[in-house]
Amino acid sequence: MRLRQNGITRRAATLGLASAALGTMAAGTSLKPAHADFDLELASPLRSHSRVSGIKFGCASAAPSVQTDRVLLEKIATEADIFVPEGALKWDQTEPRPGEFNFAEGDSIAAFAARNDMLVHGHTLVWYTAIPPWVSQLGTAKDAQAALERHIGTEVSRYRGKIWAWDVVNEPIEPDDRLDNDYRNSVWLRCLGGDYVDLAFRLAHAADPKTPLCLNEYGIEYATGAARRKRQALLVLLQKLRDRNTPIDCLGLQSHLDCLQTFDRDELTAFLGSVVKLGYRLMITELDVNDAKLRGDGTQRDFAVARHVSEYLDIVFSVAKPASIATWGLSDRYTWLRQYYKRADGTPLRPLPLDVNFDRKRMWASLARYIAT
Ligand code: XIL
Repeated sequence: MRLRQNGITRRAATLGLASAALGTMAAGTSLKPAHADFDLELASPLRSHSRVSGIKFGCASAAPSVQTDRVLLEKIATEADIFVPEGALKWDQTEPRPGEFNFAEGDSIAAFAARNDMLVHGHTLVWYTAIPPWVSQLGTAKDAQAALERHIGTEVSRYRGKIWAWDVVNEPIEPDDRLDNDYRNSVWLRCLGGDYVDLAFRLAHAADPKTPLCLNEYGIEYATGAARRKRQALLVLLQKLRDRNTPIDCLGLQSHLDCLQTFDRDELTAFLGSVVKLGYRLMITELDVNDAKLRGDGTQRDFAVARHVSEYLDIVFSVAKPASIATWGLSDRYTWLRQYYKRADGTPLRPLPLDVNFDRKRMWASLARYIAT
């Protein structure tokens, strides 16, 4: 942890840290301890720490027009600077039939964000999935380009001035697909080749020249062959986009973490360093921690999850402060992981900063510490 001696008192006060923790922290632990005495109930919300550091906190959710849980929405407005539409701005929602747009959910998010002094993270314009059948059936470069032009032009213009950043291209790399340059197989790649990435950014930039534009990717954190291949291919792509003067500003690190895996600290640090050197800003866009296979009761798992998050943030922050940290959901009550993973002991997953009762967990404290840095 890079706490300077003279910074401790102010930061500790902002975070509501008990004084007993100060000795431990000042002694120079390298990670910001997630489990130090931290008054989780009394500490001020994450977005108040953002105001000090400039690092914004966001979280994904269904649109207020379809999410009927008022407590969740209230917690989102209290904690977060940024609303991330979990599905509302994906192609299958916004343009289910050619040229027929539906922004009902997106607009309800924009209105909610405006009411609560929040921004919206635009997620996502070009992806291989969450596309309606007519898009999967596109068969020529001309048709695919026309579809991208209309879709990106319409959606980006509609929310111009309200969006914190756009995820223009989501998950373009998949070495397991064994295609040239490790691009992921998609309708866009089949119709337009790898140039679709550059095209998508140019179209988004033309529709909104001011908003930061991101490429968003997952699966690069750990000491595995798959993660290494992804880092390598991603760096090649990011370099190529720079060489072509593509209007792209940031790399979104999805950060879907898994407690039982080991970070590749050296390689991840080197990778992020190269990305930053190319002039990209970093954003953490979809943080959560899968605890499906983790042993222990809820409390033990919360400690492990928080430690894992601190370890990860320590690596990222050692390279550069991300512009934002967003979690994929806010409360364990609503996590996408539930669709795919179940714990053998039948207890609910605990991947997010608030528990199923909306109480803050240790992971919340890990986030607070880094957001306040
Ligand atoms: C997920 C949503 O959370 C689910 O509700 C939906 O069924 C599938 O998509 N990476 C992304 C997100 O970029 O858009 C995904 O969201 C999670 C993985």
